[in-house]
Amino acid sequence: MSQLKRPEPCIMVIFGASGDLTQRKLIPALYSLMCDGLLPDEFAMIGYARKPKTNESFRQEMRAACEEFARVKPIDEATWAKFARSLHYQQGEYDNPDDYRILCQRLDAIAQAHGSGPNRLFYLSTPPEVYPTIIEHVGSIMCTGAAGSDRHWARIIIEKPFGHDLQSARALNEHVHRYFREDQVYRIDHYLGKETVQNIFVFRFANGIFEPIWNRRYVDNVQITVAESIGIGNRGSYYEKAGVIRDIMQNHMLQLLALTAMEPPAEFSADAVRNEKVKVLKALRVDTSRGDGTVRGQYGPGKIDGKVVPGYTQEEGVAPDSTTETYLAMKLFVDNWRWAGVPFYVRSGKRMASRLTEIVIQFKMPPLLLFKEVTARAIEPNMLIMNIQPHEGISLHFTAKSPGSTDRVQTVVMDFNYETTFKTPAPEAYERLLLDAMLGDSTLFTRNDEVEAAWKLITPVIERWEAGKGSFIELYRSGSWGPKEADDFIAADGRKWHVPA
Ligand code: BG6
Repeated sequence: MSQLKRPEPCIMVIFGASGDLTQRKLIPALYSLMCDGLLPDEFAMIGYARKPKTNESFRQEMRAACEEFARVKPIDEATWAKFARSLHYQQGEYDNPDDYRILCQRLDAIAQAHGSGPNRLFYLSTPPEVYPTIIEHVGSIMCTGAAGSDRHWARIIIEKPFGHDLQSARALNEHVHRYFREDQVYRIDHYLGKETVQNIFVFRFANGIFEPIWNRRYVDNVQITVAESIGIGNRGSYYEKAGVIRDIMQNHMLQLLALTAMEPPAEFSADAVRNEKVKVLKALRVDTSRGDGTVRGQYGPGKIDGKVVPGYTQEEGVAPDSTTETYLAMKLFVDNWRWAGVPFYVRSGKRMASRLTEIVIQFKMPPLLLFKEVTARAIEPNMLIMNIQPHEGISLHFTAKSPGSTDRVQTVVMDFNYETTFKTPAPEAYERLLLDAMLGDSTLFTRNDEVEAAWKLITPVIERWEAGKGSFIELYRSGSWGPKEADDFIAADGRKWHVPA
């Protein structure tokens, strides 16, 4: 991870600039970076998409997007004026070489006008079907000069999903490598840009007291939850093909797991960190000793925040008889010396009771319960909970004696809370990641072998489902914590899901 320094002058192209991600995340992140003085003065950006727009209409839309989504609010007029001047738009098709040639000429002209020099950052924020053609055109038409030179750089950021199974991910990697070296490729997983996710590194490797107990001798099980209260919105056609396994499990969830389970890297460099994560992903195994080791669910109608919401199959773009899972729980093992035999229970779902991403390390019970029967039942295992969102913090749950003459005990919590401690909202994940890509730090991006290792674990699960050999799709009520079968799944091991307070 780099220090927050200013990148060299550069020009950025966002492909898919009329899409949701550009409006909600990318442009607001760039604007906030400028507010914090972290963009180079000579920065310029071209939005590229099929829809016709002028520079002016693009700037107006982006202003509205920043007003709504930027971390730094309200809009500062002087900063906005400077930022707006750096924004440009070009209409073009993704498969027409002539459009790329025009883009190329505009890039040079704009870079010259802004003094941005030859450094180029390309961002693929289009539907994944067009990634190969953009990569090919950018690689063959636009990167000449900059890509090969030591003094200047050309980098490409690729949004998820990176492939839809192992084979397609491998093919995409091979395709990218025809035009870019691996050190020019930045595969984004925005969870890695979250402040609390980066803090997993610091928590584990900048403190001495946790490492000795971070293993199979002391840890009974690990539970990772990525729960969302939102449904699939207007992304029905994408989600139908993805399901939660491709949307969250293969990427965000496995990244959280890898950071939790990895060994300390020899140094804090991009490759050293990613080497350790790859080792975890390669050691991962889905536990198929009971069924296929998964529980699948799909949300039915229900209530979220008192509002009635439709079931998944009533959503726009979803087949009425869809069997796409919107919930998935899995039991995994990390087959290495540190973690052998420790189950990692992971679950993720849409339309759950609340938005919550947390990692729960549940420790083993004391070897001998000295306290008498009544109280012994009240003793819960010690837990260390890393709350990734929305109440960012870390808490330690342990047993204490209740006041009074009885020997009653109860679980108490020692809490560290980001907001109260640091009194400043954390930067958005995309701010950090865009900045790192401009600075050439790929620690928080996924490497080719990492993506493939994740798909290698996930693809057989999907294949079992497709062959009709997987778990059934269980319906769960919107606003609940998922299907009852997921509770039975963990209860079969004598454990229960952590219930957030
Ligand atoms: C995206 C998924 O990668 O992550 C979405 O495609 C999901 O379906 C989103 O809603 C969750 O991100 P966050 O930052 O809101 O937890």
